[in-house]
Amino acid sequence: MALWGGRFTGAADERFKRFNDSLRFDCRMVEEDIVGSIGWSKAISDVGILTADEQKRLEQALNELLAEVRAKPEIVAASGEEDVHSFVEASLIRKVGDLGKKLHTGRSRNDQVATDIKLWCRGEIELLKKSVTELEKALVSAARRFQDVIFPGYTHLQRAQPVTFSHWAIAYAEMFDRDYLRLCSTQKLLNRCPLGSAALAGTAYPVDREKLAKDLGFDEATRNSLDSVSDRDHIMELLSDASISMIHLSRFAEDLIFYNSGECGFVELSDAVTSGSSLMPQKKNPDSLELIRGKAGRVIGHLTAMLVTAKALPLAYDKDLQEDKEGLFDAVDTWHDSLDMACLVLKDIKVRTDRAEAAAKGGYSNATELADYLVKKGVPFREAHGLVGRMVVYAISVNKPLEDMSVEEFRQISPAVSDDVYGILTLDSVRAKRSAKGGISRERVEEEISFLEKRLAERG
Ligand code: ARG
Repeated sequence: MALWGGRFTGAADERFKRFNDSLRFDCRMVEEDIVGSIGWSKAISDVGILTADEQKRLEQALNELLAEVRAKPEIVAASGEEDVHSFVEASLIRKVGDLGKKLHTGRSRNDQVATDIKLWCRGEIELLKKSVTELEKALVSAARRFQDVIFPGYTHLQRAQPVTFSHWAIAYAEMFDRDYLRLCSTQKLLNRCPLGSAALAGTAYPVDREKLAKDLGFDEATRNSLDSVSDRDHIMELLSDASISMIHLSRFAEDLIFYNSGECGFVELSDAVTSGSSLMPQKKNPDSLELIRGKAGRVIGHLTAMLVTAKALPLAYDKDLQEDKEGLFDAVDTWHDSLDMACLVLKDIKVRTDRAEAAAKGGYSNATELADYLVKKGVPFREAHGLVGRMVVYAISVNKPLEDMSVEEFRQISPAVSDDVYGILTLDSVRAKRSAKGGISRERVEEEISFLEKRLAERG
């Protein structure tokens, strides 16, 4: 049953109806639409559109419908209505007859859909905050499990300086912590209620919009009806939160794909998150991580689509805005799934300590230590940098690491080197020296892990 038949004499073309209807995706907001409708019934009852008894009957019927759609969500999409708002109204009329036809007084689907989306985002953000927190916990727990494992650190994908596995893991915990905070700020900013803005100019009934807003769990009512019905900033923000977090996830995935490769072999992924090749029996592919990496592009695509849809759109509501939902739903689902998958990957990951440490030692990654050593001996850093460069060229030519060069060999290039050089070239020394905040020393990493454990425990 269309909500707007009166103005029309001809029927809609079947193809137009299919093109126009949004029920097949906006059915996901059915609970929000019912909750918003209950709120609206109270608001218009307060101004005398409904008697207290009528309001009660509507609320009761809406709650009945809520229970029905919770038990059998498939009835919504199967109803053939134009959209979720039509479904709720038609179902209500079926339950309570003509009384149901009073609910839409002073309301438009424009403020209704704006409210539904905000309610939906608010609920999803709560779940996403939990998922992000779970991943942070999984990272911190992996950092604890492999706390002292030395790992090669890279810049330009060249071995640069040794780090530890735990330091790598909590680097990602930091990123996901910022994602968590971004979700909190998106949630705060969206929490203003557009209901009562009607189609565009505001409702013609003197409803108490602040009371209505509080009723629906919002902090306050929005302040301008034109803006209220066409604002989709919160969708862009949530998609942007998702995109940034998917970028973090894709980098996490890429690092692990590399560390898991035959060439590195620093970690080993469990059978639970890898798959085989139909042709090559020896293969164990990191599909879980490759899919996370791939899905980042899809989510960023949804953000781009929403931005372009909203660009230069005239005030107030235009049907273009119906395009806001599919991308949002898919992005949120994809983000959720990717966060879960990342947790699963970390759960049984093995770190191959010997291979990681050997790689951390190789690649002349202690060359900076040698430059610092020369600085201590009075050589200006820029000069020391050049001298160590030459020492590395020499070491490569005789195919050995710096720590295997003799003092004589060092002194051929710089007479400032003496016996005490070997102490500073060890991994232990490299690590111990980096004790400023944010560095890889044992104490700093311990401090950071404890800090994150405490913060995550408080979050619950
Ligand atoms: N299905 C529409 C949407 O998602 C609901 C609002 C319809 N409003 C209208 N004036 N046709 O945006």
